[in-house]
Amino acid sequence: MATFRPVCRADEVPEGRGRSIVVDGLGIAVFRDSGVFHAILGRCPHANGSMGDGWVEDGEAVCPLHMWRFKLSSGRCTTVRGQSLHRFACEVRDGEIWVAV
Ligand code: FES
Repeated sequence: MATFRPVCRADEVPEGRGRSIVVDGLGIAVFRDSGVFHAILGRCPHANGSMGDGWVEDGEAVCPLHMWRFKLSSGRCTTVRGQSLHRFACEVRDGEIWVAV
């Protein structure tokens, strides 16, 4: 059963960028897209690129290594069919980002 956990302050994630966080040893990438926060698994399925070092384009997280793209709304990869990243529920409470892990 997933439990919401505080992971970082909202103002630590710039608009259009990602941030890497670790919760209970699990690497997660948090993104801010037009003021809305999203959390997906932090390692790209292609070659373990750090998604948290990536950025947002057209509602998709872009891996910084070879530019695979993942829909922030679902985690589905739009570069290679059948690939995806787990998406975590994510919300802001009093300026803090909480992720359900
Ligand atoms: S490691 Fe992410 S696209 Fe290659």
